[in-house]
Amino acid sequence: MGRTQMINLSNINKYFPSGDSRLHVLKDINLNIDEGEFVSVMGPSGSGKSTLINVLGFLDRKFEGKYEFNGTSVKARTDNLLAKMRNQTVGFVFQEFNLIQTITVADNVRVPLLYRGQTVAETEERVKEVLTRVGLGDRMDHYPNQLSGGQKQRVAIARAIVNHPKFIIADEPTGALDTKTSAKIMELIDDLNKNDGVTIIMVTHDPNLEQFANHQIKILDGQIISDKVVAQ
Ligand SMILES: Nc1ncnc2c1ncn2[C@@H]1O[C@H](COP(=O)(O)OP(=O)(O)OP(=O)(O)O)[C@@H](O)[C@H]1O
Ligand SMILES: [Mg+2]
Repeated sequence: MGRTQMINLSNINKYFPSGDSRLHVLKDINLNIDEGEFVSVMGPSGSGKSTLINVLGFLDRKFEGKYEFNGTSVKARTDNLLAKMRNQTVGFVFQEFNLIQTITVADNVRVPLLYRGQTVAETEERVKEVLTRVGLGDRMDHYPNQLSGGQKQRVAIARAIVNHPKFIIADEPTGALDTKTSAKIMELIDDLNKNDGVTIIMVTHDPNLEQFANHQIKILDGQIISDKVVAQ
């Protein structure tokens, strides 16, 4: 099968103000990501991983250099357009799940669809479908605090895929989970990649999880020091 390029970063530099000077956090980043890849991003704390995925996930357009997504420039967009693009293009999964505690599992998963302009009635079928997909079809009316950590992360994954995103960004998705639960979540993420064709960009500190990725990136002090596409 042919490879279709989706993400193209060229010469990305990112600075944060720091007193009278500025901190150089991303240094001349060049990166291509193809549709369907499973990308791992590894590097020590403070090396710039979250900063990089904030750029990739359209959360931050204050950088120097060029970011093309499917051939169009991200930087040229207004904040409103960027937010819309984010909603339609990318799903986020975080270490601490980031669920809304005061609403049900189904309502958490519904949020991106409502943001997109659908009515509650229009969302029912899709919400049920994705929750069944992650193995929580029977927990729709539960609240997050009635779930285990692994179940919470499944809800977050359901919420991330509900809008048929072009890619998922997962920042340490198993960082708060025990080994066994972590393995189950990795199985689900891997299955979404292999069977549903979802492109994954995953930050991890765990060298054992890198093996799931067929595109392995290492960052040190704001620079990509290794970028390998591995045959699987
Ligand atoms: N909003 C900000 N303002 C100023 N400096 C920042 C900001 N966000 C991050 N930094 C700095 O940028 C550098 C990279 O931070 P980043 O969060 O990208 O690291 P990371 O690789 O994700 O680390 P971790 O593994 O701990 O999550 C750090 O030196 C950090 O202090
Ligand atoms: Mg981080």
